[in-house]
Amino acid sequence: SVADMKGLKQGYLKITVVTTAKYVIPRLLGPFCQRYPGVEISLKVTNHSGILERLSENKDDLYILSQVPDEPDVKAHPFLANPLVVLANHDHPLANEKNIPIQKLADEPFITRESGSGTRGYVQRLFDEHKVTPKVKMELASNEAIKQAIAGGLGISVLSRHTIALEGASGQIAILDVENFPIHCHWYVIHLAGKQLSVVAQAFLEYLQTEGKQIAENTTW
Ligand code: PGA
Repeated sequence: SVADMKGLKQGYLKITVVTTAKYVIPRLLGPFCQRYPGVEISLKVTNHSGILERLSENKDDLYILSQVPDEPDVKAHPFLANPLVVLANHDHPLANEKNIPIQKLADEPFITRESGSGTRGYVQRLFDEHKVTPKVKMELASNEAIKQAIAGGLGISVLSRHTIALEGASGQIAILDVENFPIHCHWYVIHLAGKQLSVVAQAFLEYLQTEGKQIAENTTW
């Protein structure tokens, strides 16, 4: 790799990822950091609009998000599937049903992410397409808080399946089998098109697209 050729010993890598990717990226940093112990990493987590802001100010080397912006001009590398699923308390009556029509979701108290969230944008588009008006009971700017709210029986939500990576669907939270779900999102690693990537950033980009991707795909979420 580029990094090996140049004898990568030290460096600083700044990455910012969307809130759903924080369930995956830290885990992938382990093997990378072991290989390059002199590399220091700063990882920030924000939502879609937070990424766009940082990108426009050229704050980081690399970003991970689902929806690649038209502007500013970026290079985007497809990275990993990010399916959005309907989550409910495992005691929920719909938890045992199959092929639930999407319209049925309108009858359930719904917990939504904050505006500026890419997840929220995808959900809104799908609901609009199917003329579903959710009964929004609560807006929470945190996947973790939404999971707690679901576990507490406050309602259902749509989140990245990666948000239940550690506990799986066997715990307090169930994935509902709803028609038109999952929403097939995909994460991309992006950077400003005009940006000269550092050796470390190039090495990490390469790692994510090869080994990192494999580790993530072989992990049962
Ligand atoms: P977000 O993530 O909901 O945290 O903005 C969206 C994405 O996957 O890009």
